[in-house]
Amino acid sequence: MEKKKGTNIVWSSDQVSYENRCKIFGQKGLVVWFTGLSGSGKSAIAIELQKRLTEEGFAGYRLDGDNIRHGLNADLGFGEADRDENIRRIAEVAALFQDAGLVTLVSFISPYEKMRSFAKSKTREDSFFLVYVKASLETCINRDVKGLYKKALAGEISDFTGVSAPYEEPEHPDLILDTDTITLEECVKTLFDIISKKVRIG
Ligand code: ADX
Repeated sequence: MEKKKGTNIVWSSDQVSYENRCKIFGQKGLVVWFTGLSGSGKSAIAIELQKRLTEEGFAGYRLDGDNIRHGLNADLGFGEADRDENIRRIAEVAALFQDAGLVTLVSFISPYEKMRSFAKSKTREDSFFLVYVKASLETCINRDVKGLYKKALAGEISDFTGVSAPYEEPEHPDLILDTDTITLEECVKTLFDIISKKVRIG
């Protein structure tokens, strides 16, 4: 998991602290990590939550699997090793954004427990909040917003999460949002109430 090939590299310390940045923003940094099947509602919730946070004066940023795979992680596929590398990189990025003082919304399927734990281990203590966006496979197949389940079930896409690749349910998420039964608005309200209390200072 840890990849370190560089030698003769020396850490340089900042003269500006995390606390300095928090004071300027009037908030603490937080990683809100969304995990769940494709089509469970991770991105939809993160998009609306980011909007709400911004309207209320919080500085946030959204890191989304589909988007990041267009750039930073464009070289990665969907086998287990590539998914691990996908999450390893974004865990490092999310920890940096948290350290910058931002409410960082990370929505990746992140199907493996070990990599979700890795992401938590990279983030400052008490600054990682795991949200399991739960929807049954049946619901996701029926929604099929991107038409990918249809292709996966027809065998046109391999290693598709829930169909031909595993999804390990989180054992101890900080919050479960069951999108089979609760609306997008309710999910966003629930999360906003928790997150705004967690990050607000002063
Ligand atoms: S992760 O498993 O490595 O965390 P990530 O969140 O980055 O996945 O990307 C998932 C998105 O890629 C899905 O929402 C879907 O749009 C697309 N996708 C394409 N192929 C697959 C596949 N084989 N399995 C899952 N998602 C896929």
